[in-house]
Amino acid sequence: MPYRKVRDIDKLQRLLGAVLMIEADVELGDLLAHLVEEACALAGARYGALGVLNESRTSLAEFITYGLSEERELAIGDRPTGRGVLGVVVADGESLRLDRIGEHPLSVGFPEGHPAMSSFLGVPVRTPSTVYGNLYLTNKLDADRFSEDDEALVEALAQAAAIAIENNRLRDRLRLLSVIEDRDRIARELHDRIIQRIFAIGLALQEASRYAVRDETRAAIAKGVDQLDIVINELRATIHQLDDDPLPGGLRRHAAELIDELAPILGPRPTLAFTGPIDTAIPPRVADHLLAVLREALTNVAKHARAQSCSVEFDLADGEITLRVSDDGVGAGAGRPSTGLGLANLAQRATILGGAFSIEPVEPHGTRLTWRVPLSAT
Ligand SMILES: Nc1ncnc2c1ncn2[C@@H]1O[C@H](COP(=O)(O)OP(=O)(O)OP(=O)(O)O)[C@@H](O)[C@H]1O
Ligand SMILES: [Mg+2]
Repeated sequence: MPYRKVRDIDKLQRLLGAVLMIEADVELGDLLAHLVEEACALAGARYGALGVLNESRTSLAEFITYGLSEERELAIGDRPTGRGVLGVVVADGESLRLDRIGEHPLSVGFPEGHPAMSSFLGVPVRTPSTVYGNLYLTNKLDADRFSEDDEALVEALAQAAAIAIENNRLRDRLRLLSVIEDRDRIARELHDRIIQRIFAIGLALQEASRYAVRDETRAAIAKGVDQLDIVINELRATIHQLDDDPLPGGLRRHAAELIDELAPILGPRPTLAFTGPIDTAIPPRVADHLLAVLREALTNVAKHARAQSCSVEFDLADGEITLRVSDDGVGAGAGRPSTGLGLANLAQRATILGGAFSIEPVEPHGTRLTWRVPLSAT
């Protein structure tokens, strides 16, 4: 690969160009690939890679490399698992520079087919509140090790990547919310207005039929009324579908599976309790919301609480379903002020369904999140 030393002023210009690209309408994968490439060019690295954790932080959602030929990448096979030195950058959320990557105490070595790698610079892809992954470069081309300046440049690019990832996730969440809202609105509209109107037209036709003189006219009207009945039944079926996308297996099983999925990041396994006819009385659409709320609540426990224990309770009583997630961790006021979106999203979901959401401290320490919605309004 040709390598040309880049002048400082060019570097700043390229850095600015790369950072500003997050405002452009570019697909996230392409943008991240561009940022890795620019990081390699600016810091003079032979190889670069950017790994993005999935939302539950159990594995990598994206892994983008630069400098490896396709054959090489195929030969290496699996993506890194986040053990070893790469895991350190994510876990600590701090940058790391090494003269020789193999010498780090946590180095686990390379898989077969992997090129030899020497000097290393890894920086977290993070916002002030969340580590999304890491960006790392290896094999500095014109020196034995990466410099402090390299680190600063690459950190700036990694921050741009973090903002782009955060924006993308926010957009996805908003899209989901507006889809749910749209579905509700369309179902209500069909039920409250369209069906009632068709029904009224049917009545008017039946009334008109009384004044029809000819048999053929009465027969034609009766046929029209029958067809309107068919239309009404079809609409009812559609409303039913909008309301009830099936969730095979019920809420219990899905809640337990979600806890299994998040087990690697949760530490002690949460207890799970149900009261009331959970599987039969909760419409699948509400169950979808409950599972999304549970995922966010447990992810928060994993990310922020440092808890010894955690409990999850679903409680169906008096036509209301309540989800409570409690932990005995450090408490929600303990961290720096949050720029996160998770809790705001939970509040919004509760509002859409006419319910309520709260998060409060528990004695002697810890947090309890309560999310409650009425089933009648849903
Ligand atoms: N169970 C908990 N224990 C301790 N702190 C918590 C807990 N749940 C939430 N917090 C605090 O509340 C803040 C806001 O949470 P929120 O879910 O909105 O954002 P986030 O988790 O930081 O980011 P995001 O959810 O957007 O990935 C967190 O940053 C954290 O400081
Ligand atoms: Mg959160």
